[in-house]
Amino acid sequence: MTLPYIDQLLGQLARGNPALERSFGRHIHWGYWPNPAAARPDSPEDYGRAAERLSLELLDLAEIRPGMRVLDAGCGFGGTIATLEERVERLDLVGLNIDPRQLQRAARLAAPRPDSRIGFVAADACTLPFADASFDRVLAVECIFHFPSRRAFLAEVRRVLRPGGVLVLSDFVPSPFFAPFGRLPKLKALQRINVLGECDTSCTASGYRRLAALAGLRVATLRDITRHTLPTYAFLKYLARHHGGSRLVAGFSGPLIGLLDFYGRSGLLKYSLLRFDRS
Ligand SMILES: C[S@@+](CC[C@H](N)C(=O)[O-])C[C@H]1O[C@@H](n2cnc3c(N)ncnc32)[C@H](O)[C@@H]1O
Repeated sequence: MTLPYIDQLLGQLARGNPALERSFGRHIHWGYWPNPAAARPDSPEDYGRAAERLSLELLDLAEIRPGMRVLDAGCGFGGTIATLEERVERLDLVGLNIDPRQLQRAARLAAPRPDSRIGFVAADACTLPFADASFDRVLAVECIFHFPSRRAFLAEVRRVLRPGGVLVLSDFVPSPFFAPFGRLPKLKALQRINVLGECDTSCTASGYRRLAALAGLRVATLRDITRHTLPTYAFLKYLARHHGGSRLVAGFSGPLIGLLDFYGRSGLLKYSLLRFDRS
């Protein structure tokens, strides 16, 4: 499965788009601004720092210590692995992605230091090619809505986590009222404007609690950080206006991104950080 925005992002990076390189060259996710009023929507560097900050918020929640084995499912260009590698010693890090093209870039970006190991594996996050109880932490940064099944992914995470292990992820969590609209329809007419590809954002907070219990996990934290991510949309519009030309950048100012902005501001779709504990 390939996603339109990933195809276009890879194409633009290969052609050398410096604004995209600085904003989305390491992390393919929304930004986090501790003080959203101070965001600079016309700065790819500011966006790159905010994307790094989002990874740090998730890593703080995961409480990763030296010596741990960590899986980053849906790892993109390996930015979160690189960030972790720079901050914690003696880690055994595995990045997994369904798309080998992203893993090639990730392998260039994330070089292990002498006391650590980094490996990349091409596979579907819902059928993890790892032994039972072989990881201390699993991360899934802004990708679970693309996976074929949240239920299958959580069951796989439970299987590969050691007792006491932790899963941390970020997702767009709908209010109960909005949940039925959280699946992007597969209508042909919408495919032209749908740069995001197949997404399922219909899992509510109580849906997560139910799925976690089914898998043998417990939702320990569910934090709505929407407010801190909203400057992302102004930056995407800036990218489209000033560094355009491609369908990707044009799509960033298109109706779909405008809708996500509106859903976020109106509390219909909450950008959330979740932590699950395995007993
Ligand atoms: C929005 S990007 C996030 C990438 C990365 N986690 C980051 O934060 O930079 C979503 C990622 O999910 C990956 N993905 C989609 N479906 C997947 C699946 N079934 N298994 C593994 N990875 C998948 C995509 O290839 C893409 O890298």
